[in-house]
Amino acid sequence: MTANKSLLILPGDGIGPEVMGQVKRVVNWFDRRRSVTFDITEGLVGGAAYDAHGAPLSDETLADAMAADAVLFGSVGGPQYDDAPRELRPEMGLLRLRKEMDLYANLRPAIVFDALVDASTLREEVVRGLDLLIVRESTSGVYFGQPRGVETLPDGRRRAFDTQEYTDDEIRRVAALAFELARQRGNRVTSVEKANVMETGLFWREVVTELHAESYSDVGLEHMYADNCAMQLVRNPKQFDVIVTDNLFGDILSDCAAMLTGSLGMLPSATLGAADESGRRRALYEPVHGSAPDIAGQDKANPIACMLSFAMLLRYSFGMDEDALLVENAVRNVLGTGVRTDDIMSKGAARVSTSVMGDAILRELDKTAA
Ligand code: IPM
Ligand code: MG
Repeated sequence: MTANKSLLILPGDGIGPEVMGQVKRVVNWFDRRRSVTFDITEGLVGGAAYDAHGAPLSDETLADAMAADAVLFGSVGGPQYDDAPRELRPEMGLLRLRKEMDLYANLRPAIVFDALVDASTLREEVVRGLDLLIVRESTSGVYFGQPRGVETLPDGRRRAFDTQEYTDDEIRRVAALAFELARQRGNRVTSVEKANVMETGLFWREVVTELHAESYSDVGLEHMYADNCAMQLVRNPKQFDVIVTDNLFGDILSDCAAMLTGSLGMLPSATLGAADESGRRRALYEPVHGSAPDIAGQDKANPIACMLSFAMLLRYSFGMDEDALLVENAVRNVLGTGVRTDDIMSKGAARVSTSVMGDAILRELDKTAA
């Protein structure tokens, strides 16, 4: 069966283009070797788009993203844009995609590969076998709440403010997805907020508790304050299965969880919207790491997070679980042979460049599908 899938590729800034270069080789491999054909469009986002047409996301690129079956995103940002006005900063390209495509659930798995237990800064017994999933709300909360701004008070002092806000339906839809995903894994959800301090936190807890009682009482549910969750993530991360939390806490906790695995260079993510009648969801896939301007253009970056993001794309957008596993196993096998990019380097391993890591993964794909 041959099905045409449309893919929008947005490499972005910094190490985005070089890691995406390797992922494109993997996409082409699937195009040639498996029962799927990709119609690929490429576009600019972030600083690259700003340099080309003065905005971090053009309306045309947004329209392409809306129309695509899936978007594969690299990374955005760089020090040269530090002085750009806030609404033109590279990050706004990503935030606008999330908001306008209504991609409300950001899935960030943190999985420790056996071959990399040494790469974690935590002791081996704390992280070996770790497999947790953070489901971060990604279209609301303090990232988008109004009003926000900076004002000068009558007495001359200046004041800045943001608004943290959630509606019950925004909490319900992301929590529902977290419960559904938990049913396919360890069947436990930890819902994270600051119900002890914030109105939105208390409300979050109430809404999740209600939804759980109504529709998901078969799934284990625990509530946890965000500060405690940060502590528990480094103390005993294996206690978690699925964590569901708001936009800001999810941003912070997912960086923390990612680092348990040894490197941000390993972590993929998927950001999903609601399913339409045909079951199709708008979706964007991106590595959790940023643009890493300090190593950009040096062929040093780890392409694995972006590769694994493509695996998530195959799984969540196209239901191609077997193909997703091909990518994931190829990565696992390559790591097993001791091939390492700089960020996950350990004693006795072979340090390789971005492109040589790509070569190794493609060779492994050829082998597994031979
Ligand atoms: C992330 C990033 C983004 C965020 C930035 C680039 C806007 O840190 O995806 O975690 O804060 O959401
Ligand atoms: Mg972040």
